[in-house]
Amino acid sequence: MAQTSVMDKLVSLCKRRGFVFQSSEIYGGLGSVWDYGPLGVELKRNIKDRWWHAMVRARDDIEGLDAAILMHPKVWEASGHVAGFTDPLIDCKTCKARFRADQVGDAACPQKPSKHPGEHTTCALTEPRMFNLMFKTVMGPVEESGSVVYLRPETAQGIYVNYLNVLQSSRQKIPFGIAQIGKAFRNEITPGNFIFRTREFEQMEMQFFVKPGDDTEWFERWRGLRMAWHQELGLNPDKLRWHPHVESELAHYARAAYDIEYEFPFGWNEIEGIHNRGDFDLSNHQKASGKKLEYFDQAANTRYLPNVVETSAGADRITLTVLADAFREEEVEGETRAVLGFLPSVAPIKAAVLPLVNKDAMPEMATELFNDIRKKFSCFYDDGGAIGRRYRRMDEVGTPFCITIDGQTATDQTVTVRHRDSMAQDRIAIDAVTRYLSERLV
Ligand code: GAP
Repeated sequence: MAQTSVMDKLVSLCKRRGFVFQSSEIYGGLGSVWDYGPLGVELKRNIKDRWWHAMVRARDDIEGLDAAILMHPKVWEASGHVAGFTDPLIDCKTCKARFRADQVGDAACPQKPSKHPGEHTTCALTEPRMFNLMFKTVMGPVEESGSVVYLRPETAQGIYVNYLNVLQSSRQKIPFGIAQIGKAFRNEITPGNFIFRTREFEQMEMQFFVKPGDDTEWFERWRGLRMAWHQELGLNPDKLRWHPHVESELAHYARAAYDIEYEFPFGWNEIEGIHNRGDFDLSNHQKASGKKLEYFDQAANTRYLPNVVETSAGADRITLTVLADAFREEEVEGETRAVLGFLPSVAPIKAAVLPLVNKDAMPEMATELFNDIRKKFSCFYDDGGAIGRRYRRMDEVGTPFCITIDGQTATDQTVTVRHRDSMAQDRIAIDAVTRYLSERLV
């Protein structure tokens, strides 16, 4: 498959089958903002649930949190985002287009014929100036300067300002972590590649608080755990790699950072960042708020400001990764079959129930089975069209199992289970279907 067409096909499938729609499409869309349809919301929720389970429920040393999007404006001064969360921008006074200064060489000037910015004689580029990526809004009924608040550009700050609340209420001891999933907003200058870089997105972040001096060891430990999580999600390990940040790439808060990158059809790109943030955030919040944020280590009878190791993944970006990794087309009996080969447990629909024909008690038996298994799994009932077409429709949305009720079911109470990837069929007892699915939906 040509590299560019893979993304085109995936975007088209996502719209046609209800994974992802452009925001406000009937008004012409809103730039780099997307909505999740019936299947997309299930897929993304399954990914978030997997992360929440691995990071919070399966561990004794991490607590969950759901902090508000709007925070005191001083948070963003203390965190360094007001001063430092910026991109250098260049404007063209002729065509009014805006480019990131570090990407001008690759950007396209909107004037024809196609050239890079600055290459037309009429181009009038400004010097680079810094542009803050945070969205601003106004709190309260009166638009006055004192009431400006920001939409958070990362969820992490909600964790830092709640660190003492969580520590005291959960009776955790260092080392321990706080995890949260929530929306973040960035006025990205060069958004794009579908849901890869958007202006509104969800982050899955965890901040792990450790004793100063233990940060490097925990940084390495979290690197290993996070890479393993992506592999267990079913992603092709050959398409995952590390990108260590050199000094000039480090974010304003980071002592050290590694990105986990995935090889998308449009190239290698970051899907998660692991950062050693030292005591940057807690010491700045301590200074700015005047509130002591030190930890008292009873055993050693000492006080210290913890260091933080952060794991930060984008839920939308990982949803795109899962879609891109799962998508394939293959020739079957002279026809092209499109398949989303998801890990069964993240598939939006786990099983489809299909009566072979709409007569001979098959719909009744199929409905009874459907009502039984939907108590446990997300299922779909389909009695429309030839059975081969129905299988193809389920392959295209990644349903791992199709259960068919046929003429034999009434006589021996068995059904066929057809597997998405191999297309092989097993014949099993109808009352064994729930157990059969439970064993395979891992
Ligand atoms: N708290 C640290 C932090 O926010 P980041 O590297 O800026 O670090 C972490 O972002 C992750 O959030 C990225 O690896 C990516 O998955 C996701 N992300 C960041 N900006 C995004 C955007 N504009 N659209 C979608 N996902 C984004």
